[in-house]
Amino acid sequence: MAGPLSHIHRFETGTASRTPLLLLHGTGGNEDDLVPLGRMVAPGAPLLSPRGKVLENGMPRFFRRLAEGVFDFADVERRAQELADFVIAAGKHYQTERPVAFGYSNGANIAAAVLLLRPEALSGAILLRAMVPLQDVPQSAGSTTPVLIISGSRDRIVPIESATRLAGMLRGHGMAVDHQILEAGHELTQEDAQLAAQWLKSSV
Ligand code: MLT
Repeated sequence: MAGPLSHIHRFETGTASRTPLLLLHGTGGNEDDLVPLGRMVAPGAPLLSPRGKVLENGMPRFFRRLAEGVFDFADVERRAQELADFVIAAGKHYQTERPVAFGYSNGANIAAAVLLLRPEALSGAILLRAMVPLQDVPQSAGSTTPVLIISGSRDRIVPIESATRLAGMLRGHGMAVDHQILEAGHELTQEDAQLAAQWLKSSV
């Protein structure tokens, strides 16, 4: 549903007093994609799952790109601001705490942009197969947000060097970043889910 909020989204109330997860899908996905994984890594947590508003050949994304791995930086910035506003408005609407972002691929990249531009919108982030999303990195807002980045050493879409650079940028902003590199490609594995679940228990 969209309702009074800016993004079409799905919301699950949750059953336990856990920090909500903000689920951010990859290119061509939608608000349903990450719900099963979200339930697995954070059983009982409220789930807020927006659909990306940009369409690339009919495939939803969270920002425009010019080619694979070549981003329209102005659009990344605008969409990250818009998503942060949505997250804050949804928190008021559903009366939930600040969420931990749980983003995959394009969803991880927009979450990384939100961390750099509007860290106050999130209480933490799990970035699965993320890369540097912005050209000009803003001045540090001095946020200590905990972040888990999980990369794949055989990922053909995300160069490991870009994920490592992103980890350094977020640390430079004061964030507590744990960067794990798995023997994996761009696709998610069981190990991603296990690491994410463990990290949520110990870090958030
Ligand atoms: C992106 O466009 O955000 C990245 O290339 C990942 C992808 O969605 O393929």
